[in-house]
Amino acid sequence: MQPTVGYKLVQLANGVHSVYSLAHRETFHPVIGPVAEAEALYVNQLRLPDRLRSHESEFVIWDVGLGAAANALTALKAVQEIPGCIRLVSFDNTVEPLRFALRHADVLGYLGAHEDHLQQLITCQRVSFSQGSLTVDWQLCLADFPEFLTQSEVQELPKPHAILFDAYSPAKNPAMWTQPLFAKIFRLLDSTRPCAMPTYSRSTMLRVSLLLAGFFVGSGHATGEKEETTIAANALGLISEPLDQRWLQRARKSTSAEPMWEPIYRQAPLSAETWEKLRDHPQFA
Ligand SMILES: C[S@@+](CC[C@H](N)C(=O)[O-])C[C@H]1O[C@@H](n2cnc3c(N)ncnc32)[C@H](O)[C@@H]1O
Repeated sequence: MQPTVGYKLVQLANGVHSVYSLAHRETFHPVIGPVAEAEALYVNQLRLPDRLRSHESEFVIWDVGLGAAANALTALKAVQEIPGCIRLVSFDNTVEPLRFALRHADVLGYLGAHEDHLQQLITCQRVSFSQGSLTVDWQLCLADFPEFLTQSEVQELPKPHAILFDAYSPAKNPAMWTQPLFAKIFRLLDSTRPCAMPTYSRSTMLRVSLLLAGFFVGSGHATGEKEETTIAANALGLISEPLDQRWLQRARKSTSAEPMWEPIYRQAPLSAETWEKLRDHPQFA
């Protein structure tokens, strides 16, 4: 669905404001708000400051679902004092939430000194700037993400060290949560470049999709909204709590574990074929 219908501000119980999509009837960062959620889910879990500090070349972050840029800007703020070079590649099929955020920058409060950078990102789909001794090269791929992953130009993108994955929920936005989509993301990674991808869902269906795509998968940090989230990576060392045999046995009995193979939301138990592939995943060996 192309979200063109609009957005509004909502005030959360803690007083913080977040963006709400009228078309999807979803709040971008519910419960604890944009900055606190981005810090818990992405910055801390990905250990972004530590990884950047010990990194010598360009550190590449993919930001899937740029939206109102809270995740991207919170990540940049967390590393602003660290000398280095960040290459940020954001993906979205619309800049409307970003325009909306710019119109409400005072209430949202997290855009900081980046309003001109965001305007340039909207106009040119690329902006470069420095904050202290950190340089940032930020690119926007404005396209339908699942479709873009099938194009040859996606191969030219720098390979990520970290992915912030933040689509609308699987029920409202199934095209962003299919197994083939995660398999394509996994194939785009450089197997010699450790990369981790947290996301807010802890659903069995998502975790099975990621495992079958080739990722190692673990339980992710709580965010306030969810007591547990999910982190996937192409290197087991980036996951502190890998899913184990107990999770595997629960998945076997779950009524909602079979991946979505097509962009149509539905819930189903594991098929025999999926179960066999899952059981043989190296994580459970
Ligand atoms: C929950 S919002 C992201 C919030 C954002 N990360 C932030 O920090 O403000 C989900 C985003 O995914 C984008 N999205 C949904 N379906 C998409 C698709 N098929 N292709 C590209 N982007 C998509 C939406 O336009 C929306 O901006």
